[in-house]
Amino acid sequence: MKVYGESEAEMTSPPMVPRPVGKRAATKLIVNMEVVEKEMEMSDGVSYVYWTFDGTVPGSFIRTRVGDEVEFHLKNHPDSKLPHNIDLHAVTGPGGGAESSFVAPGHEAVFTFKTMNPGLYVYHCATAPVGMHIANGMYGLILVEPEGGLEPVDKEYYVMQGDFYTEGENGERGLQAFSMQKAVDEDADYVVFNGKVGGLTGDNALTAKVGETVRLFVGNGGPNLVSSFHVIGEIFDKVYLEGGAMINENVQTTLIPAGGAAIVEFKVEVPGNLVLVDHSIFRAFNKGALGILKVEGEENEKVFGGKIEEKVYNPGVTATEEATEEVTEDAPVASTSLAQKMERGKQIYTQNCLACHQATGNGIPNAFPPLANSDYLNADVHRAIEVVKFGLSGEIEVNGNVYNSAMPKQNISDEDVANVLTYVYNNWGNNKTEVTAEMVKKAK
Ligand code: HEM
Repeated sequence: MKVYGESEAEMTSPPMVPRPVGKRAATKLIVNMEVVEKEMEMSDGVSYVYWTFDGTVPGSFIRTRVGDEVEFHLKNHPDSKLPHNIDLHAVTGPGGGAESSFVAPGHEAVFTFKTMNPGLYVYHCATAPVGMHIANGMYGLILVEPEGGLEPVDKEYYVMQGDFYTEGENGERGLQAFSMQKAVDEDADYVVFNGKVGGLTGDNALTAKVGETVRLFVGNGGPNLVSSFHVIGEIFDKVYLEGGAMINENVQTTLIPAGGAAIVEFKVEVPGNLVLVDHSIFRAFNKGALGILKVEGEENEKVFGGKIEEKVYNPGVTATEEATEEVTEDAPVASTSLAQKMERGKQIYTQNCLACHQATGNGIPNAFPPLANSDYLNADVHRAIEVVKFGLSGEIEVNGNVYNSAMPKQNISDEDVANVLTYVYNNWGNNKTEVTAEMVKKAK
């Protein structure tokens, strides 16, 4: 294939991707990339010396088209302690370019290759000990678009999973060293998207509008774990399996091997927070592999009607007795006295909250905040009502500890929000607030 002209590749930090190649002809493409070793945050109060391509984990996204002649310039910053290199899975040739790109601190290596096969490919450092270089964050994605480019979509994002192994346990504060033993045992302390816990939540959440088609370029740097990539509340309309040319449709969860990738596409139909997870689910809720795609726009009740009714279910009671206990917004259970509220509240707590906030109300360190003696809870009852009624995501501080996760909205009646919060407030050393259904109704 003939190449036309020469241009410098646009490089973007995650979660952004460069502009599509569109209909451009194959060209000589200059790629400039710099290896930087630097300390960054892994989780709240936890830092780590990452080894990076271009200062981010994952490294810059590289976008090419099939037939491009790539001239790759790999620079190793003079402050680096070690030599590095790059193995691009998009390269046809020895080591994916590893030997040709081996570069000492304060040097630049230049090598060339032609993009032969369209697809989404991982690149990573392949300097010994290879596992350690990858475990420290040295990976990213290179996309080789087919001739004519991929179909245009409304939003494109770059997401990459990785597992990390630290001397201290998950959440242990301070600068954490790499643990070779845990890496060998494949006993990850952190499994994260885009390099850290909260890499895709709070201010880092992805966004889209109802009606848009979203394309995620998803990679898995590993070094060890295979990702069961899933978006809670969506179905992938299309998955380019393993980042190749084969397209599967209507997929719930797609496997992304360590050192592999996938392209997933879906149209967002209703507003709300979609949750990106590794569906090996303890990794999501306990190790960090959780991100948010915030969708804004008009509700569409035909697609999702939400909860339309809640009734008491009590198999021991006759139909007529049950009818008198029906719970709707207009006919709440008559749980008016504090004792009744507490009883019903305990029932709701056990059914809806206990799994995360635990029977003791103490939560789980680094995953679910405590409701026992919670300064966050006691400071503002209206905020607490909103948390239960509408859900919560992003960074919050409870009793001096930061949580940056997501709590789904609780689909319970206003009356039961009042009951459960009254139960929580009148337990575990909290400030004995009595929450009423009227207070909950007012929360918008
Ligand atoms: C945060 C209450 C169910 C996960 C909170 C907070 C409250 C609360 C008051 C604010 C922080 C605090 O005071 O500690 C409740 C109640 C629930 C419930 C009353 C049941 C009706 C759940 C469930 C989950 C969950 C089922 C897990 C799936 C979380 C998380 C946060 C949180 C992760 C922190 C969110 C962030 O980091 O932004 N919850 N919760 N909660 N809850 Fe719940």
